[in-house]
Amino acid sequence: MPSYLVVEKENTTFAKLLMIDESQMKIDTTRSFDVHQTETSRLDQVDFNDLDFGRVFSDHMFVMEFEDGEWQRGSVEPYGPFTMSPASMVFHYGQAIFEGMKAYRSADGTVSLFRPGKNIERFNISAKRMCMPEVPEDVFMEALATLVKLDEAWVPHGDEASLYIRPFMIATDSFVGVRSSDKYTFSIFTCPVGAYYKGSVKVKVERHFTRATPGGTGYAKAAGNYAGSLYPSQLAREEGYDQLIWTDALTHEYVEESGTMNAMFVVNGKLVSPQTSDTILNGVTRDSVIALAKDLGIGVEIRKLSVRELENGLKSGDVTEAFGVGTAATIKSIEAIGIDGKNYSLDMTAESGSDSVAFRLSSELDGIRRGKLKDRHEWNIPV
Ligand code: COI
Repeated sequence: MPSYLVVEKENTTFAKLLMIDESQMKIDTTRSFDVHQTETSRLDQVDFNDLDFGRVFSDHMFVMEFEDGEWQRGSVEPYGPFTMSPASMVFHYGQAIFEGMKAYRSADGTVSLFRPGKNIERFNISAKRMCMPEVPEDVFMEALATLVKLDEAWVPHGDEASLYIRPFMIATDSFVGVRSSDKYTFSIFTCPVGAYYKGSVKVKVERHFTRATPGGTGYAKAAGNYAGSLYPSQLAREEGYDQLIWTDALTHEYVEESGTMNAMFVVNGKLVSPQTSDTILNGVTRDSVIALAKDLGIGVEIRKLSVRELENGLKSGDVTEAFGVGTAATIKSIEAIGIDGKNYSLDMTAESGSDSVAFRLSSELDGIRRGKLKDRHEWNIPV
């Protein structure tokens, strides 16, 4: 049966990059990459009914080196450790970026990548900001397809389960001077996962620490952005919160994003979310949810939301729902928001009810990803 690998990239003519039939694909992938299959699969050691997020790794990984000004031939290898020099530049100056994406198994068994073109595009935006080489889109796509196809048996069944895919790039030049590296490793590994957050989350609006500043790296999926968020997040956890809602660096008056998710609110029945910018990550789930809200006739306002408006709306009842959206987190209801030492609870019965915005969007998104609803935007790319 032919399998169409379509790399999407919105607003460009880059619509159909690869069109490969199943048998062709095997030839193609072995021609493009060396594939060294493991002789000892770990698949039978995994309890697929009890998957923690990000602790179980599939059998294979993709690895490709950048040297002498170009990408070398990549290969698929058994999942395992890298050997690196202690002087590798990533350890010192933090040139490291990553992506998070997922593959889903449909009821008929088909495995599809969800909007991989968006992640590839964002990865290269991150690479550019961090002075790293871009990965050619066709190579990236082929690496994803090869890896996921090879480890297809690792894509879990089950309502909350999926295969999380982690592409990343690190600077590997052994050099202690400060400059961008001459050598890089690009790699992809995958993990069968269950839910990232169990149940709904409590978030604290952060009014002191900053995640990203205008002109900074906030829009890139750079490892350092996450490192810098750990200490404020830890303080929030000590206060009983699961996550932060970051505010703008200059005034701390406007809502930006939540640590692992973009933030969304339902205000007077409309879906409100801040505009992405150089301080807010351009989330693929965010983009998908906004498109689906429009499809469902839900009013959408992409605009600034001040902490005052949020607080007043929570007090008056104008804010009826709050949730975070992200690849790992999916659509995660927020049950309480801490603002300047006061806690505001949201009505979780309303938020999880079948007429709530969060529930409707979640059912729609999940239905599309798992092949239960028509994929009208052609977001699923079967491998
Ligand atoms: C994702 O949602 O995939 C992320 O990258 C967030 C996080 C797990 C770091």
